[in-house]
Amino acid sequence: MHQLAVEAEGLVKHFKETRAVDGVDLAIPQGSVYGILGPNGAGKTTTVRMLATLIRPDAGTARVLGHDIRTDPDAVRTSVGLTGQYASVDEDLTGAENLTLLARLYGFSRNAARQRSAELLAAFTLADAGGKQVKTYSGGMRRRIDLAASLVMSPQVLFLDEPTTGLDPRSRNQVWDIVRLLVAEGATVLLTTQYLEEADQLADRIAVIDHGRVIAEGTATELKASVGSGTIHLRLADAARREEAAAVVGRLLGGEVVRPRDPSALTVRVPDGAGDRTVHVLPALQDAGIVVPEFSLGQPSLDEVFLALTGEPPADDAAQDGDERAVPAGRAASSIPEEER
Ligand SMILES: Nc1ncnc2c1ncn2[C@@H]1O[C@H](COP(=O)(O)OP(=O)(O)OP(=O)(O)O)[C@@H](O)[C@H]1O
Ligand SMILES: [Mg+2]
Repeated sequence: MHQLAVEAEGLVKHFKETRAVDGVDLAIPQGSVYGILGPNGAGKTTTVRMLATLIRPDAGTARVLGHDIRTDPDAVRTSVGLTGQYASVDEDLTGAENLTLLARLYGFSRNAARQRSAELLAAFTLADAGGKQVKTYSGGMRRRIDLAASLVMSPQVLFLDEPTTGLDPRSRNQVWDIVRLLVAEGATVLLTTQYLEEADQLADRIAVIDHGRVIAEGTATELKASVGSGTIHLRLADAARREEAAAVVGRLLGGEVVRPRDPSALTVRVPDGAGDRTVHVLPALQDAGIVVPEFSLGQPSLDEVFLALTGEPPADDAAQDGDERAVPAGRAASSIPEEER
């Protein structure tokens, strides 16, 4: 039942001296969402372009729905949809014209092509914009028309290269809903992202990639579990008492205390085995007379996973998300020693 939609072994791609992809293995079950998570330049786009047969690997093999990307690229292309950072719609045509044209290219009759175009525009809330030239679209509309263009043929496997980079939270949620719908209908989605939260929200499994290599693979929960049993985020009413609070919590749990840039915030990694002592944190702070208007206990963020895996936070723009949920208090920056900030 769990056939693989994508299998890759040892994919390598060099650009002169840059080893953009340096031996990537992937095993993506059919009907799942698979996230490739990594910072700028990690090799995400290059990996996807190889799998989509847009560029040839220097070494390694891959099969998409059983078709070898080297010996049977045409079969791969007919079963795969791709939207990329470098999208394919014609800016001078309207949204509707683009979709109709693509459908005609795929062999739809004139009427069927118009109908498919109208369906897709409606599904992507672009019905009103369908008559306008794509070059007049906002970033979010543009991303949705790119997605619609890749779905004209209802592909079994869809590659989405950073589908939500630069979108506002609302547009991003729309894209997420579309991805979920596609998967509910049986598609397999391979998604690249720099957003930890996106991988967490959408992906059944995640490969974390850095410098062209997979440095960790698993479910979001597994990746988070590799870091410790959780993280406490506190906000204090009085920033001047942060060190006192840090001492109280440190004595209680023994975990690593990190100091986010916000001077009233405090983050504590709960060490393995100390999870059941977290309930004592608030009473202990109260006993010390420290007022804590905000307290949360959560699993470690994927940011922290990245930090634990690589020793570095993801590239700085990786978290410029416009959505504060993606930038948890005490995100990676908090673990950089004070003087290096
Ligand atoms: N056509 C190319 N010619 C030369 N170097 C390239 C080319 N494409 C990618 N690279 C290099 O290969 C590395 C991996 O690039 P890639 O585009 O795959 O990264 P990415 O993970 O998609 O990054 P981003 O998040 O910025 O899109 C980078 O160092 C990049 O500069
Ligand atoms: Mg890229």
